[in-house]
Amino acid sequence: MSEAPLAAAAAALGMPEDLVRRSAEARAAEAGSSVDEILAAWAGGEAITAAPPAAPEPPPSVEASSEPPAQQADVAPEIVVDIPPAQPAPNAAEPVGVYQPPVLVGARDKPGTIVLGVIVLFLAVFMMGLVGPSLATDEPGARTSEIPYSQAAVDGQQIYASLGCASCHTQMVRPVVADVGLGAVTLNDTNQVMGDRRFGPDLSDIGTRMTVSQLEAIIAGGGGHAPHRLADADMDALVAYLSESRNSGG
Ligand code: HEC
Repeated sequence: MSEAPLAAAAAALGMPEDLVRRSAEARAAEAGSSVDEILAAWAGGEAITAAPPAAPEPPPSVEASSEPPAQQADVAPEIVVDIPPAQPAPNAAEPVGVYQPPVLVGARDKPGTIVLGVIVLFLAVFMMGLVGPSLATDEPGARTSEIPYSQAAVDGQQIYASLGCASCHTQMVRPVVADVGLGAVTLNDTNQVMGDRRFGPDLSDIGTRMTVSQLEAIIAGGGGHAPHRLADADMDALVAYLSESRNSGG
């Protein structure tokens, strides 16, 4: 075996010379030709895996099935289809590397959980929207019923309610633009009489605007106001109540 064809074949095939030489020797022994011929053929561009021309194998084809089985047994080459195992599994119990498609398993919906969530959400909104704002607060200007009224004022509140003052006057400052200037907005001053119509001015903060004598004059009918005849004690109590109605403090 000469070196030049070996080098040429190795260069043509892009394989190491040692491997090419051993392959050529095996091919030559198989085909009954010389190593140099094989190397020359490979150097000329023939693929190393090409079947030797001296021993063409009958191609396995579907036509073979049309022949009688007896003849086929004589001529049919032994075709060994070597299919390697797809995944070598050293441990059958724990297959390694075998693709396992994901199995999506979900828990069933529980109606009780949904209903409970709705109830919890409703309670949360209820507490934040209604209960929370009505709790007592330390904000300046916000009054609660804990603010002490004198006993005379508490009596006067009863007179205020019984005389129907609340049918024309409110004691409720709303958080709206129209009520700006009437006093502080409060939800908890339960001493005040809310009223239902506002024919006259809101009286939440009347104690900061009028003196005792002015209040007495108006209640008695001064300035065209609806006159109310009251005993002195009742007048004093009613005026005390109005004087202590100081929504904005002070
Ligand atoms: C029929 C409706 C009506 C009734 C009832 C009524 N008021 Fe009046 N009040 C008015 C009107 C209207 C005004 C504003 C005009 C005026 O001062 O005359 C007013 C004004 C006032 C004012 C002055 C308010 C301010 O800021 O200037 C006071 C105080 C007052 N009322 C107290 C009372 C008291 C206390 C009672 C219950 C004993 C009462 N009013 C019942 C209609 C009423």
